[in-house]
Amino acid sequence: MTRRPIIAGNWKLNLTVPEGLSLASAVRDKCGRHRAVDVVISPPTTHLWPIVQRLADTSIAVAAQNCHASPKGAFTGETSLTTLADMGCRYVILGHSERRLYFGETDEGVAAKARSAFDHGLIPIICIGESLAQRDAGQALAVTRNQLTAALAQLEASEVAQAVIAYEPVWAIGTGRTASPAQAQEVHASIRATLSQISGAEVAQRVRIQYGGSVKPTNIRALMAQPDIDGALVGGASLTADTFARIVAFGDQ
Ligand code: PGA
Repeated sequence: MTRRPIIAGNWKLNLTVPEGLSLASAVRDKCGRHRAVDVVISPPTTHLWPIVQRLADTSIAVAAQNCHASPKGAFTGETSLTTLADMGCRYVILGHSERRLYFGETDEGVAAKARSAFDHGLIPIICIGESLAQRDAGQALAVTRNQLTAALAQLEASEVAQAVIAYEPVWAIGTGRTASPAQAQEVHASIRATLSQISGAEVAQRVRIQYGGSVKPTNIRALMAQPDIDGALVGGASLTADTFARIVAFGDQ
């Protein structure tokens, strides 16, 4: 089964709106020709609307970095999936380790948001990953299995098939320290085995599993050569169009 690669750029809390628009235009110009790869960019919430419009006639999709599970209500400072869908966002990143670490995101919260994302027509990019202490304690596979099982608890098998899973070892995010292709593949294979237990082998074969954590033009090819790595969630290296485009072009030459 061939899964279509998906490369997403997570801009986090960076760039002004004009800077974001320039970067979106540059990504459009440099990545538009890669028809065999799904390209996604995830600007801050404030930048989403003008950037969706800037990319309107392209195949580049836009992802929000978070959302609230409720469609509306008294939730000051939050962003609804109703609005994200209406704006034209196609994906929403859920459960990023920074949200879990700094903003109290829980597995249950991620599950509720994933349910709501599908209810509003968005595809969740569900992030899971172990800390360095958990890896050193030999718990990487157990931690990611538990996070994944919890996050998918409210989804039908047909929805799981469409979801994107991002394996991001916390110790590799923004540290310049990438998991080796073999380390990443071990966890990705375990994630696919868990998906198979939850939703059946056929669904598991369809789910795209991204690797994230210090992905660069120099390591993307070796990562993508692994059988269960289907894409990347790129942080720092997505803030420069040239670098991001070289990651998207991993299959060239
Ligand atoms: P990084 O971030 O590529 O800067 O390590 C990845 C992420 O947090 O999604």
